[in-house]
Amino acid sequence: MLDNSSSYYYFKLLRLYSHFFTTTFDYFMLELKNDVYQIGGIPISVLTEKYDTPIYVYDTAIMARQYDQLKTAFNGANTKIKFACKALNNINILKFFKHIGSGLDTVSIQEVWTGLRAGFDPKNIIYTPNCVSMEEIDMAVKEGVQINIDNLSILEQFGHKYGNTVPVCVRINPHVMAGGNINISTGHIDSKFGISIYQMRHLERVIKSENICVNGLHMHTGSDILDVDVFLRAADILFEVTEHFPDLTFIDFGSGFKVPYKPDDYATDIEEVGSKLTEKFNAFCKTYGRDLELWFEPGKFLVSQSGTFLAKVNVIKQTTATVFVGIDSGLNHLIRPMLYNSYHHIINVSNPMGKQRLYTVVGYICETDTFGWDRKLSEVKEGDIIAFQNAGAYGFTMSSNYNSRFRPAEVLVHEGKDYLIRKREDLEDILRNQVESVTF
Ligand SMILES: Cc1ncc(COP(=O)(O)O)c(C=O)c1O
Repeated sequence: MLDNSSSYYYFKLLRLYSHFFTTTFDYFMLELKNDVYQIGGIPISVLTEKYDTPIYVYDTAIMARQYDQLKTAFNGANTKIKFACKALNNINILKFFKHIGSGLDTVSIQEVWTGLRAGFDPKNIIYTPNCVSMEEIDMAVKEGVQINIDNLSILEQFGHKYGNTVPVCVRINPHVMAGGNINISTGHIDSKFGISIYQMRHLERVIKSENICVNGLHMHTGSDILDVDVFLRAADILFEVTEHFPDLTFIDFGSGFKVPYKPDDYATDIEEVGSKLTEKFNAFCKTYGRDLELWFEPGKFLVSQSGTFLAKVNVIKQTTATVFVGIDSGLNHLIRPMLYNSYHHIINVSNPMGKQRLYTVVGYICETDTFGWDRKLSEVKEGDIIAFQNAGAYGFTMSSNYNSRFRPAEVLVHEGKDYLIRKREDLEDILRNQVESVTF
């Protein structure tokens, strides 16, 4: 269904249309047409009536727009984009990214298997696990995907087993502090990720003694990079160590591009990174003596803005301190605000023109479960539909059944039509793997 390219021109038009909006300030906001909030041309009320709440809704036109923007920014080099499916792992989304030409970035064998099921060529899948067993890496080798190893112990075992018969990428930790939050910063000195830049001698010894063919170098300094220069400095560090690796065919610069979460928010200037890094990369290739591929593995940049999480207001609760809006969802569905203190722009889509008031939006989980404190929303009534923007990345994939709640449905809007791509769970899903084996 989604792989059908017969509607190519319609799709191209949609891309052009959405590209236009990248130049406007609030391009990540929901569309408001004739006082009706819409996603990909479909009124939100139509979606919530059809699929109920809570639901995640994704718009392929926005994913395509983001993909195109990145491709265009780096078109001066031989650039390959691998969608980091940890951000959004529904198989329909994976098929869509394959359809528009992307590869896949995976961090577990299960993601590898899902990618293969979605039809990706194993050669277009990179597997970057952390702290997994050699057995899991063996499974990935068997699937023929590009292996990326981030510690010396496993690299030594890998070399011992495969020598130079299976080329491997090595994840380097350049020790730069990038990323918007300590929990999503991965390139600093205390991070568990990557092989330290200070362990280069040891790394060389392992490669030589086990006759390993290193075909790629990788870094990922963290999510939500705020400073392009920090990112470029990390890239320079990677270029500097390439002299130890004569067999490279690619360098993978990871991801971490920041998208805007609210009006006036800072976002990574993709065009600036594109032109500066491309220039550096091409100059580097000349000194290296070979044209390499430049890889990226974005998650958030490709899907964050494409996703909206919709929930219904169960209760309005006035206290002496605030007015709570209690919704039919919780941190079990969208954990980012509680886990990372992330901001998701919240809109009352049922009352677009209503008077603005201050509310604290909370969930139904029996913990502190706050989506947003003191948010300005147009006047909220019980039964209204509340939309959380930027919910495409690390939304559903981080959801759980905490409090025995069902995980929400997922809907994809593509070329003006909506498709159910994941059913809402029911009690059978909660109980499926429980074994009632004890008689009391
Ligand atoms: C190795 C690796 N690559 C890519 C990504 C995607 O990052 P982002 O969603 O910020 O683009 C992550 C995210 O944590 C990652 O760990």
